This record gives sequence, C-alpha cells and structure tokens, in this order.
Amino acid sequence: MRAIVQDRYGSPEGLVLREIERPPIGDDEVLVEVRAASVHPDVWHVVTGRPFVLRLMGSGLRRPKYPVPGTDLAGVVTAVGRDVTGLKPGDEVFGESMRGLSWRNGGAFAEYAAAPEEALAVKPANVTFEQAAAAATAGYITLLNLPSGRLRPGQRILVNGAGGGVGAIAVQLAKAHGAHVTGVDHGGKLDLIRSLGADQVIDYTREDFTRGEQRYDLIVDVPGNHSFAECRRALTPDGTYVLIGHDHYGRVGRRWLGSLPRFGRLVILSLFDRHLRRGESSRPSKKQAMDTLRTHLEAGQLTPVIDRTYPLDQAAEAIRYLAEGEPVGRVILSP
Ligand SMILES: NC(=O)c1ccc[n+]([C@@H]2O[C@H](COP(=O)([O-])OP(=O)(O)OC[C@H]3O[C@@H](n4cnc5c(N)ncnc54)[C@H](OP(=O)(O)O)[C@@H]3O)[C@@H](O)[C@H]2O)c1
Repeated sequence: MRAIVQDRYGSPEGLVLREIERPPIGDDEVLVEVRAASVHPDVWHVVTGRPFVLRLMGSGLRRPKYPVPGTDLAGVVTAVGRDVTGLKPGDEVFGESMRGLSWRNGGAFAEYAAAPEEALAVKPANVTFEQAAAAATAGYITLLNLPSGRLRPGQRILVNGAGGGVGAIAVQLAKAHGAHVTGVDHGGKLDLIRSLGADQVIDYTREDFTRGEQRYDLIVDVPGNHSFAECRRALTPDGTYVLIGHDHYGRVGRRWLGSLPRFGRLVILSLFDRHLRRGESSRPSKKQAMDTLRTHLEAGQLTPVIDRTYPLDQAAEAIRYLAEGEPVGRVILSP
C-alpha cells in the first residue's frame, strides 16, 4: 500500500510517500481502507517530536516507533479480526486507529490502517468521510473534558478557541444540550462560530473576555492564553474551568515539556479550588465517546467543518498549512 512514512522527528518535509506492507490486524482489530484522515495539532507534535517529553511517553526515543502518522480516519472495513463482533467487511466507519489517548503515530496517513473495533463507530450516511474523519480525535478529547452529564440547559458556557477543531465540537455539543454559548476566536472565524450555533462571539484581538462583565458556568479554554487566575474572574461562584491546552506549533517555546507543567499545577490547585475539576468519574470510554459522536452526527447536531483536503502525497504541505496557514475548519488528507 502507499503510506506516508516518518523515519525521524523534524520538519514535515522529512515525510516521504512509500510503498509498505499493509499493517497486520490483531484479533480485536479491523483493517480499514482509509478514505480520509485528519491533520490536527497532535499530528504536528509527533512529526516534529516536540515537546521532547512525548518521545518518552511511548512515541519513540530517537525516532517514531511506528513510522506512519495520523490518528483518526474514516473509511471502509476490508477485513476483521476473529474477536470482532460488531463490524464486517463493507461497513463504513470512522474513529481512531489507536487505543486510549496518546502522543504517537497511529498509521492513518496510508491507504489502509489497522484500528481497534472499540475505537470505531459506523459512519452515519449524512456525513462525508472527510467530516467523519475530522470528528474522531477532536471529538474524543472534547467528550473527555466535557462529558454530557456536565452539560445542562441554560448554562452559560464560554469556549475559548471556538473556531478550532476541539472548540467547534465543544460549541456544537454545548448547544445540543441547550446551553447558552459564547465563542471566542479571531475575527476571521466569528461567522463560522455563529454558524455552529454560538449565541455570542468575541474577537480575541479586540476584546479580553476575562475583563468583561459576563460570568460563565463553564469555561473551556483551548489556547490557554490567559492564566487560570484571569479566567477565574469570569466564572460564576460555582463555575468550572477546563484547560484543553495548545502549544501553538512551538511558537510559545516550552520545547521540553509543552503544557504539562501547567496541567500539573492545575491538578494540585484543584485540591483547593472548587473552580477546577477533581477526578472525573463520568469520563466516557472511547467506545462510548465514538457512539455519542455518531449519535450527534446522525442527528445533525454536529457538523464538522472542513477547510481543505489534500491528497496523501501532500501530507507535508497539509501539516505546514495547519501550522502556518490559519485554516478555518479541519485540514484533511485523502488517499
Ligand atoms: N483536534 C484534534 O484532533 C486533537 C486531538 C487531540 C488533542 N488535541 C489537542 O487539543 C488542543 C486543541 O486542538 P485543536 O484541534 O482545537 O486546535 P486548533 O484547531 O488549532 O484550534 C485552536 C483555536 O484557538 C484559536 N486561538 C489561538 N489563539 C487564541 C487566543 N489567544 N484566543 C482565542 N482563541 C485563540 C485558534 O485560532 P488562530 O487561527 O487564531 O490560531 C484556533 O481557532 C491541542 O493542544 C491539541 O494538541 C487536538
């Protein structure tokens, strides 16, 4: 099969298109003929090997252990392992090509990828392969941080970075649960955010939401450009702050540990501050998250927005565009 291969960490220009063997599948895995895979910030992290700590976290110390990038995909099942019960060849699916949550290559930038059954759901007929591929990884992160049980009608929710992959899904899920949503991003994305259902929008280049009069029951902070102390000012007395975090493609430094120290400080602070969540017992499994995403996609409550689609052999260009081109919506690779 044709696949994008990463022999070392570094600039996306080091990626090459190569003929390699199709991946073997385990007993609980399926082989997917990939129709679309998304290009998102974590792909950039593993291709560049930054922050360096990810190399110690399972990605591979000197070079990636698994050489084919990409973590989420949509496509058609072509073979199933012997323990797979819910999928069969010919099924159109979307999801992740890896278990759990990790910073490593998942093999989606290829004509075929192996994926665990538990990380996939049947693709609804009303969304394209490109849209379905865009929903999986960003949707899983969003649901881990915004479990449905925490969302209530009438809640005031602010999504900082609402025009990005995670933010756009957070806005739509919050609206699907009847919340009043304010989306923050730069001016060029405000029309998109309104079209996703946001009740109010704020251009971060003109207005600082932490200094406004409005108070929020929940702040979902993707870019993390304000300190927790600043965001706290914009919370109701019982409001909650959730940091997703973003390293802005290395532009903010933090080459060694990325946002991890900040997450560590928030975990410690959460022992004393009610605005920070303690251990979340209602976090969905990947299977549950995929089923929830499928339900919202099928009901038309979640519509992933695609900026542009690149052919597989332009993976490097697609990653460069993600990091430097200010896409409005997801960037997709299509074999
Ligand atoms: N998307 C995924 O599939 C996925 C999966 C796993 C983990 N994650 C992690 O989740 C994080 C977010 O990912 P993402 O896909 O949502 O990133 P993204 O698509 O780059 O979205 C971030 C958004 O924040 C905006 N932004 C930047 N600076 C801002 C500011 N000062 N105030 C308000 N908004 C600002 C960006 O707009 P600009 O155009 O102005 O920069 C962009 O719209 C990343 O750390 C990523 O590693 C993402």
